[in-house]
Order: sequence, then C-alpha cells, then structure tokens
Amino acid sequence: MKNLTHFLITLALVAVAARGGDQKLPIVQQKALDENSILFVPQGYDAKNNPSFAFEKPLKTVGPVPKNWKLVPHFSSHGTSTKVVLDVPFQASLYGTGEVTGSLLRNGKEITLWNTDNSTYGTAHGRRLYQSHPWVLGVRLDGSAFGIIFDTTWKAHLKTTSQQIIFTSEGPAFRVVILEGKTPQALVRKLADLTGKIPLPPKWAIGFQQCRYSYYPDSKVREIADQYRARHLPCDVIWLDIHFMDGYRDFTFDPERFPDPKATNDYLHKHGFHSVWIVDPAIKIDPNYFVYQQGSNLFSNENFKVGSSVAGLKTAWVLTKNGQPFQGEVWPGKSVFPDYTMPEVRHWWSGLYHNFLAQGIDGVWNDMNEPSVFTGPHLTMPEDNWHRGGGGLPAGIHRMYHNVYGMLMASATRAGILHERPDKRPFLLSRSNYLGGQRYATTWTGDNSSGMHYLKMSIPMGLNLGLSGSPFNGVDLGGYAGKENSDLFGKWIVLAAFFPFSRAHTAVYNPPREPWVFGPKIENVTRTSLERRYRMLPYLYTLFYKASQHGDPIMQPVFFADPKNLLLRSEDQAFLLGQDLLVVPRWASLPRLPGGIWRNVSLLPGKQEEEDGYQPRIKIRGGAIVPLGRVIQNANEESLKPLTLLVCLNEKGEASGTLYEDAGEGFGYKTGGYALTHYHAIRKGKTVTVTMEKREGSRFISDRPVHVQLVVNGPDVEATGLESQGIVLKLNKRWF
Ligand code: GLC
Repeated sequence: MKNLTHFLITLALVAVAARGGDQKLPIVQQKALDENSILFVPQGYDAKNNPSFAFEKPLKTVGPVPKNWKLVPHFSSHGTSTKVVLDVPFQASLYGTGEVTGSLLRNGKEITLWNTDNSTYGTAHGRRLYQSHPWVLGVRLDGSAFGIIFDTTWKAHLKTTSQQIIFTSEGPAFRVVILEGKTPQALVRKLADLTGKIPLPPKWAIGFQQCRYSYYPDSKVREIADQYRARHLPCDVIWLDIHFMDGYRDFTFDPERFPDPKATNDYLHKHGFHSVWIVDPAIKIDPNYFVYQQGSNLFSNENFKVGSSVAGLKTAWVLTKNGQPFQGEVWPGKSVFPDYTMPEVRHWWSGLYHNFLAQGIDGVWNDMNEPSVFTGPHLTMPEDNWHRGGGGLPAGIHRMYHNVYGMLMASATRAGILHERPDKRPFLLSRSNYLGGQRYATTWTGDNSSGMHYLKMSIPMGLNLGLSGSPFNGVDLGGYAGKENSDLFGKWIVLAAFFPFSRAHTAVYNPPREPWVFGPKIENVTRTSLERRYRMLPYLYTLFYKASQHGDPIMQPVFFADPKNLLLRSEDQAFLLGQDLLVVPRWASLPRLPGGIWRNVSLLPGKQEEEDGYQPRIKIRGGAIVPLGRVIQNANEESLKPLTLLVCLNEKGEASGTLYEDAGEGFGYKTGGYALTHYHAIRKGKTVTVTMEKREGSRFISDRPVHVQLVVNGPDVEATGLESQGIVLKLNKRWF
C-alpha cells in the first residue's frame, strides 16, 4: 500500500513536471542555527543527492525560528530543477555572488553558477567565471543586512530583480540558510562563522609577487630575482608557471630548463624570496609517466575494492558515463583527470607533494581546475561524466560535482602540503573554487586583460569576493592578456600596494612586463607602490589576522564606513583597506566618499608620493591608529625599528588601533605565541598622549622606539618615544 501511494505521488509529480508547471515544495523543517541564522529544508531534500560543501561543520540547529523572523524562502520544483525565491526587502542593495564581472552592486544581474575557464571574461560563455558562490548579501535602507546561502553544488542560475532573488538549480531540492545582521560587517562575520575563515598565511605570502607564463630556464628565474634586489623593488615571491615541467607533466621538472630545481629554490631563499610552483589537474596520458601509472592502477590488486570488470574502475580518474576514464586535452595534450570526490584519490594526490616539495618549493598554485578541458563541451568535461565519491560523498554525475572539483583538489593539495610541513603555514593559490573554499586556498580572478575596463573591474571583483567570504584575493596586476602600454601598467601597478593578494602576471605571448621594462618613470612608480605596501605590512598583517579570526574582508567597500548612507552603496572605484584607510584611485571619477573626518596621509616619509600622477590618494579615518613599519625588501626583514603609529583623532579628540605580531610562520600563534597590542590616543588641551593600552598574547616584545605621526589639519606633528612610556605631542591651536 505504502509503495502504491509512493508510486501515485511520483506519478503526479511527473505529470506536473511534464506539464511544465512549478510544483510548490513545502518547507518541512525550519530551525534556528542561532538567533540570526535559520536553516530551511524543503520537502524532497536528500543529502545523498545534494552533498553540502559550503559549511565548515555540519549544521546544528538549536531551536525554533525566532517569532519576529521575516525572511522566508519559497521553494518549488520544476521538472528536474529546483527553484528558490526570496522576496527582497524594500530597495535593498545586493552584493556578494562571488567572483563576478561588472559593478559592485548586484541588483538586476544574472549569473550562471558553473565554473568556467573563461579567459578574458568573454561573453561566449555567458560571463561565467572560474568559481561559484551560491550566496547573496543584502543591505536594507536602514543599514541592516541579510544574506542567503543556497546549499547546493549543482549547476545553477542566479537572478536578482528589484523585488526578488531567484535561484534555480538544475538539481534536486536543497537547503537554504538565511542570515540576519545589524550591519553588513556583522553579516559577513556570520557568513564566515558558517563557511569558515582564511587560515592565517605565512607572512611572506602577503608581500608582492612576480609571475609570468613562464620564467625559464632557471637562470631567468635567478635573473628576475636579481633585478628585483638590484633595483630595490621590494618583492617576496617568484612564481614558476607550466614551462618548468617536463612536457607539462605535473610533479616533474624539465631536465634541461630546470636540471636542479632545489638549487633554484636555494638561490631564491638565499636572496629573501619564496617560490610558488604550479600543479594542474590534467594528467598526461603517457604509460611511462609515474603519475599516470600510479593513478591508472590506484585500485588494482588488493586495493581494487570495487570488484567490477569495468576498466575505468581501477583508476583514479573521472569516468565517462560508460565507466571508461574520461580523456580530454589540456596543456599536456590528451589527459585524464583525478576524481577528487574519492578519499583514496585525495590521499594519493596529497602524497604526490612529498617529492615535489622536497625540492624546496614553498607554495603551490592549482590552476585549470574548473576543470578546464580544451576539447570538452563549454571548455570542461561532459556533465554526465561520473564521479565515484566515497567517505560520505555519494557517487554522482559531473553536473553535481563540477562546481566543487577545484575546491576538492585544493583541499587535497592543502592536506598534502600540511602533511609534508606540519609546522609551516601552507600557501596555496587556486583558480577554481566554491563558497567556503577560502578554508583551503587563496584566489585570484584568472585571465583578465590589459585594458582600463579590466583595471577598473578588478576593484569590484575583489570587493565582492571579500563580501562572499574570500578576503585573500587579487588580480593579475598589469593584465594577463592583451597589449600593455606603460601608462596602463603604471595605473595598475599602483594598486599592488592594496590588493590582499598582490601579484603581477602576464601571458606567454606577451613581451616581458616586469616593472623596469617600461623605463625609469614607471619603475619609480612601481617602487613607490611597493614601498607603500611594505611600509603598511604591519597594518596589512593585522588585517589578515582579523580576517583569519573573524572573516573580515581586507579590501572593503566604501559603504562599510557608513552603511546607512545610500550614496555610498554603489561606490566601486574608491575602496577601504581595513576600516581605517581609504584608497581613492587617480582615475576615479566623482567618487562617493564617506562623511566625517578622513584626512589625506602620506605613507612614505620625505616622499611626495602622489606627485608622480599615478599613486592613489590615501586617507586615514578620524579615530584610527594605523601601525606602519620601515620600508623593507621582503616581508621577513625586521620592519618595526621603529614602529610608526599614524594617528588621526576623531571629533572627540581620541583614536585607537591595534597591531598584530607573531613569528610570521608556523602555528605557535595558535597557542598564544603572538602579541596583539592596543594603542590609544587622547587630546587634552594642546597635548596629545599616545599610549599602549594593553597587550594580549605571550610573545615577548622588548621595549622599542615608537614614532608617532599625528595627522592634523596642517603639517603632521611628529614625536618619538619608548613604547612603554607613552608619547606626548604638542599641538598648535590652528591644527585642531
Ligand atoms: C591559465 C592561467 C594562467 C597561466 C596559464 C598557464 O591560463 O589562468 O594564469 O599562466 O594557464 O599555466
């Protein structure tokens, strides 16, 4: 009887689907995860066909939905797809949606969530990019915020109108979490509580980085490093792109171009650099190649647990719908692709980093992991390819796993790096990713192009990634594709000071694009930009610490300064670095800036940095104390001798700020090995006193000279003293 009823219901559903109508899906569970986040589960939800990847931990409900809760999603099914509609509160501004082109404001936009190798962001692929974030953040007229997470990895379509957020997945019923926050900042923290925060990177990874497709042979790598040092252009990392490999085979080295990769890395280390080397997912089909051999027999003999005669099943590779290893062309030619949904494959993949990292490699770059397949439909693999899953992940078709292929690869890579170097912080860059993927990898926005349009777009792209839980992001500075000219390079490289991930990169078919190739003027512009970044490292590192603790974006939209001010909601030329510095590009036309005290500051003593016509104007918030260091050439040099505190008083004559310090590497900070110092400034009459209020953590900091630069309505007032004793500055009345 039960079976018959089930059969009839199914028939009815099929009939509705066949008629093409929407079938309303009632909510079968709505429970609070805490008082500001509610989980909604529709009828028909089954974790077996909707594995969840966004959340750091399994969701735990704690009680009923609060009585005054307003935002409720409407679920419906339409044939094999599932739709969720959320009514947008009156005139709310929408943001988030991850890695997207276009403006900061996401009202009235449409995107497809299907990770795509969309070089230069062309329209041929519907503007899809390398990552998917099924997430929208909204800010109401009163400055309060809400957010919605669509907990599904299936291919989907997201549309925002002035009244509704409409999310249509090409898969079965899925869960939704709706968040509430008093401010957008609180809301982003809430998102990070659920989807995870970035791990604190090694300090060198927040320095400037130079990449090219590709530097080879090894003497070229040394030459680039030497040029940086000889020209006193601060830099921390040199990147190795695919030409180091032997015929684009992962985990190998070309015997002629890189006969001794260890020696190359030793050389870089000796000169204060770190190195990042690329690893793509496509494995060359070559019976003599060890990775292909191992992966092709991963489950053979005693390991062959599946017990089937289908040839593909003993391999580590993603299968076609017929159970054969899927083959497609990428850089190495005909390749196969690890099925990272399988725990055994992830484990094997992690282990491949053992010999690789033994060459002294510091960081890893996972690229092409949408996965990009040059010969596949829409530049990827067929949607009906087959993943075998395991260890809690169901087997399923590629359409379900595509959007997390890169995330799974990144998680296996990170685990491999960590296993090899348990005492060091891994650094991993991944091109493809998914909501929550910041737990495993840093990201950048892929193949942009040299053009003012791309340069301008890099700011809202970085901001929306930060508003989607991924604050450690950047762009190819200078542009990956396209013709460059020195003026554009100058305009772009000045942003090197401010992007959380700061890397110049360009494609193989372009002439060299290191800063010095454009002549002395642009080289000087670059030096000023990099010196600004390195001077700000203590502040930047403190921002990274906050991002790793709370999920705070590093680069922030201007409206964060005053979420109630509607005029700021679409500003995406100017932006904030943390909450205390405002960056206004020279090319910004009529930027909307926040009210209140924001004073122009110079970051480089004795240099009129803005006179070169390229550097953005920097403003400091009234009420802020920003810690600065000396200009150094790489992040591991001693910077805080002296420590400079940039102080700007608020209307009440007060300011405060923090400085985070630790070993710059390793995990000692997790057990107290850090110092978080709080500074406070107060004006009484004509005197301003700056003191160290308290210090958290057990890292010992010996008493040190502190230089205070008080930014007033007139020339800066400066004084130096010992940190323990406080610093007193005398003001001229006119400067208040
Ligand atoms: C992809 C990457 C690019 C890289 C190239 C070669 O296009 O996006 O950054 O240089 O592959 O590896």
